[in-house]
Amino acid sequence: MFKTLKDVDLKNKRVLVRVDFNVPLDSAGRVDPSEDWRIKNTLPTIEYLQKQSAKIILIAHFGRPKGQRDLKFSVKPLSDYLSKILQVPMVFVDDFTNETGQRLTADLAVGQIAFLENIRFYAGEEINDPEFAKQLARLGDVYVNDAFSNSHREHASVVGLPALLPSVAGLLLAREVEILSKVFRKPKRPLVVLIGGVKISSKLKFIKRFLQTADHVILGGALANTVLAAMGLAIGRSVVEEKIVDELRALNLTDPKLHLPVDAIVAPEPTAEAPHRVVAIGSTRSEEMILDIGPDSQRLFGDIIMNAGTVIWTGPVGLFEIDAFSQGMKKIGQFMTKTTAHTIVGGGDTVGFLSKQGLLDQIDYVSTGGSAMLDFLANGQLPGLKVLGY
Ligand code: 3PG
Repeated sequence: MFKTLKDVDLKNKRVLVRVDFNVPLDSAGRVDPSEDWRIKNTLPTIEYLQKQSAKIILIAHFGRPKGQRDLKFSVKPLSDYLSKILQVPMVFVDDFTNETGQRLTADLAVGQIAFLENIRFYAGEEINDPEFAKQLARLGDVYVNDAFSNSHREHASVVGLPALLPSVAGLLLAREVEILSKVFRKPKRPLVVLIGGVKISSKLKFIKRFLQTADHVILGGALANTVLAAMGLAIGRSVVEEKIVDELRALNLTDPKLHLPVDAIVAPEPTAEAPHRVVAIGSTRSEEMILDIGPDSQRLFGDIIMNAGTVIWTGPVGLFEIDAFSQGMKKIGQFMTKTTAHTIVGGGDTVGFLSKQGLLDQIDYVSTGGSAMLDFLANGQLPGLKVLGY
């Protein structure tokens, strides 16, 4: 295990806290209070640090600005939101590398909170540049990682920085690891993993791993289309990742553990107005797109969920933002609340959807991680945890 912030002296210390506040903003560019769960989950750590008379410096990212200072990815709305819910002013640090930024962080009073501008505005973050990590380390005396959902990234603020300072886990990170490590080590079987979403390329390594460790792996959403394409089935104009089709063909796609949709809701356009119909997989016309799982797939996946010991779910199985294509998500959500299995969900879209459906409080454990959760449950380790001594 690793040390948590309860194991170190924090009094008067400048504490660098890596948080993950990467949540959707509304059309006015503000945090939508119904989507603030990642921010709220970090409050125990921030409030604990305030009580311990620490000086707090928050490091966060928003989106993928790719090392460029692109203000549409500013974390200012996240800082403003935190300020509002904590009812304390934030010291917003536009650029921690310049003189003003350094003065602002150096002059923090006990209990005050500085919020650094998007750490991904700096090219050194994602390449884990050692010089960049050193620049960050100069701001603080202690490092706390409370960003479980970003701990699969080998970025400077996740792995480089903690190697340079006394480093501990925040309360959210510690709770995620405590709960998810039990599932990793001894899941109640049958263990079912349901993976949806768009990009199979970023999830393929987890899918391969779960085909070894889980009892059932269910794929839905756009990422299943790429598998169907690799099997030579007609998918029309559906979203597909061509570059990975050959790699998928090398897998055993007829593995009885692997479950794919057997029918789908298809339409010529991904819009609410487009006429849609249910088809058996393989019967999608060239002008149509697969936009949701069909009723037979709902039943098939539902049976597996109802007979499971543990179900892990992340990633949408349909284009749920449009009501006509959200039936699969609704049904899966209902099965998740009805099953006697231990249920675990993660990932922004999945958690947000269940929350809006009023189903979230009936899920046994809601992780703040999407890919980080899958990675941890597949491998029992993450780069950001390893550096803390996990
Ligand atoms: C997430 O939203 O899952 C985390 O914040 C990680 O974001 P990333 O996938 O852009 O690294």
